[in-house]
Amino acid sequence: MKISTKMKKTLNDQVALEASASNNYLAMASWCEVTGYQGAANYFYAQSDEERTHLLKVVHYLNALGAVATIPAIKSPASSYKSLEGIIKTALKNEQTVTAAIHKMVEIAQKEKDHSTYAFLEWFVNEQVQEETKFETILQKFDLLGRDKLGINEIDKFLAVEASASPEPAV
Ligand SMILES: [Fe+2]
Ligand SMILES: [Fe+2]
Repeated sequence: MKISTKMKKTLNDQVALEASASNNYLAMASWCEVTGYQGAANYFYAQSDEERTHLLKVVHYLNALGAVATIPAIKSPASSYKSLEGIIKTALKNEQTVTAAIHKMVEIAQKEKDHSTYAFLEWFVNEQVQEETKFETILQKFDLLGRDKLGINEIDKFLAVEASASPEPAV
């Protein structure tokens, strides 16, 4: 089975997007850890791992088709952040970018009548709904619990619980 050059390029771009998401979440986790937000740190370390499993899904898919995945260079992430709320906002924006990229790929697959890639991408479409909801829910907590020290501490505790919830099945 073959995929088009365009489809291959778009899937390789997705590998780069997932790699960059994983790297950004790792940097966020590290900042949270040194800032004293242990729950948020655990949450973002897990999120970084999760993005890596997404990257691997695409790499395996390309390689299985004989299209050969390109492993990308990754841009340096930010090393410092202003606030936990700022991090969550950035994370949500990042997920919205990823969703848009996935929807674009789905459109290409449809246009090219590439049924296997279309079916492959269905998992990612559903995953992105969850990813955006996750960060929207956390953002909402800042309005509900407040942005003072006590509020942030409650949000950190919430993230600790979320981080210890059972991870998604591996690739
Ligand atoms: Fe992802
Ligand atoms: Fe994600």
